[in-house]
Amino acid sequence: MVRQAKAADFEADPRVCDSEYLRDLSIARRNQGKQWVWVAASREEAQQPRDLPNEAYLTGSQAVGDPNKSLGMSMEMWAELARAGNQAGDEIILRRRGDIYEIRYNGWELMSNFNHRSEVLLAERSLRLLGRPAKRVLIGGLGMGFTLGAALEYLGPDAKVTVCELIPEIVGWHDEHLGQLAGHPLRDRRVEIYLGDVMDVLRDRHATYDLILMDTDNGPDSTVRDANNQIYGHDGLGAVERSLKPDGIASFWSATISPKFETNLNARSRAWRRDDVLLAGGRADAFHYIYFLGPGRQAAADSHERFGSRSLETAISF
Ligand SMILES: C[S@@+](CC[C@H](N)C(=O)[O-])C[C@H]1O[C@@H](n2cnc3c(N)ncnc32)[C@H](O)[C@@H]1O
Repeated sequence: MVRQAKAADFEADPRVCDSEYLRDLSIARRNQGKQWVWVAASREEAQQPRDLPNEAYLTGSQAVGDPNKSLGMSMEMWAELARAGNQAGDEIILRRRGDIYEIRYNGWELMSNFNHRSEVLLAERSLRLLGRPAKRVLIGGLGMGFTLGAALEYLGPDAKVTVCELIPEIVGWHDEHLGQLAGHPLRDRRVEIYLGDVMDVLRDRHATYDLILMDTDNGPDSTVRDANNQIYGHDGLGAVERSLKPDGIASFWSATISPKFETNLNARSRAWRRDDVLLAGGRADAFHYIYFLGPGRQAAADSHERFGSRSLETAISF
């Protein structure tokens, strides 16, 4: 049974929710202090698609007092801005509450602009690990464009970024709603959009990209559609490796640690590592994760010849 609890109580002593699970940590973050959070009795329940009609969060002093009395009159409701579907039956919704935009994919929160630090770091840390300027970049999943915007900040004028996006409407939503969130990255002339499955592009390229930044799902263990499971398995990782230049870097965003994905990465010849990214202003145990797939040993040595010790440090840090 999902119920409300005072976020302040939870913050003071997480054991009050010992056998319970926060439905959404980002919501908890937003509702700190005097406000309320939703908690569920089990992890499974917390992970159910959330479409409760009263799933609106109380703001500021409105939330003080009896939550049942507060519910109804003064809360700020989500407003649906747009909806899209495809032949496979996927349903994608863009909605907004105040300054928060959220994309929901088949009933699940795919992302919001509330805490996008790890989407930015996906680009920034990959560029740093590469240790040299990137000319060709592939991004899997446009979303709200934070990863793209961060990459563009550091790329040179002759760089080219290909962004693969499965849902054409999401690209369209950047004109009216989403573009301003990350500085209108689609207006940058270095960007080209491929409308379709990122796997189609990966299968078709050989030693093309300096960086491949993958953020299509909530992670390897929580894909938005069944077909995306292949991205994190033998086929997908093989295609990523073939598309990368020998010293290139691929990175994968994930909401959770994935032992299965780590087993798959262990089977590759390239080195990999995982960065645990603490959510900004978040609880000490609230992380997002980035998996980096680096160069193989020989490529790291070649790269050292060409680019000097910085690349070697990069290789060692894997
Ligand atoms: C979590 S969002 C990406 C967030 C993005 N990193 C950002 O900074 O806003 C995931 C995006 O990937 C797209 N997507 C999902 N599966 C895909 C696939 N197989 N190929 C291309 N895009 C895909 C979704 O439609 C969605 O726009």
